[in-house]
Amino acid sequence: MSLKGKSLLDTQALSNTQIDDLFLLADRIRTEGWNIVRTSTPKLISLVFLEPSTRTTSSFEAAALRSGHQVMSLNGSFSSTTKGETLLDTLLTLSAMKPDVLIVRHGTNESLKNIDRQLNVPVINAGEGVSGHPTQALLDAYTIRQSCGAISDQRILFVGDVKHSRVATSGCELFESLGAQTAVCGPDEWSTGLKKISSLEEGLRWATVCMTLRIQRERQPDSAKTSRAEADFISKYQLNKESMKWLTKNAIIMHPGPFNRGVEITEDVLSDSRCRIWQQVENGVYVRGALLAQILGAVG
Ligand code: CP
Repeated sequence: MSLKGKSLLDTQALSNTQIDDLFLLADRIRTEGWNIVRTSTPKLISLVFLEPSTRTTSSFEAAALRSGHQVMSLNGSFSSTTKGETLLDTLLTLSAMKPDVLIVRHGTNESLKNIDRQLNVPVINAGEGVSGHPTQALLDAYTIRQSCGAISDQRILFVGDVKHSRVATSGCELFESLGAQTAVCGPDEWSTGLKKISSLEEGLRWATVCMTLRIQRERQPDSAKTSRAEADFISKYQLNKESMKWLTKNAIIMHPGPFNRGVEITEDVLSDSRCRIWQQVENGVYVRGALLAQILGAVG
């Protein structure tokens, strides 16, 4: 079934066929260029970012502009949410301006799934609290497929602050639905009910993909406790020159960004041939461009 006119609020809404179609279109944009999705009837894309973002907001904007669309951006710090306006009322207000799609990041307790029903425009979840970040999961799956082949053959290890990571939530959901094995590795207080591998050495020897995660300081209730936990985290779970020796030569290292050099990863990781961090960023533009083309019905 086509994604035209549909919202994307989580990865569970997508069938494997829809994901294959999306990735094939992203492949075509990557190899043939943007003309295949470039439109002569520009649509209006509304970017609503009520939490900070570099990669997600800029990659959606780059994809929209390269596809010939127009973009209007709302930055949370300058929006009327700072005067008490709710997410629902913000989105109803923007929806009344008749954009063709709303791309929304927020960290409120309101759920896009409840709000979506009240809007007459497709909504893309660009990161919602800790509950999900479906387009990140899609670009990560695309990057794994490009580097390692079938997702169903992979053993994917999330290392770090899994509990506060919407990337881990959506990633585990999507990768498992595509047949991969997933596991997490990190301090008990930052783990979830997902399969846990206690030692980093054991986890890295097991993994074909290592997705390391930032400590999400902004979501931790006690900043002093988080700072104390950081030194222990670095000694046990940091990906560095020594720990990377446990990772097999064909495995890859990923990070959704933003990363903190010297905390969860070191410079050695960034210069390692197995590192795919910049490829993830580049692929984010192709995958989000393909998604916009499918939702807006602009596939050539
Ligand atoms: N990975 C990710 O969502 O990065 P940004 O917060 O910079 O968008």
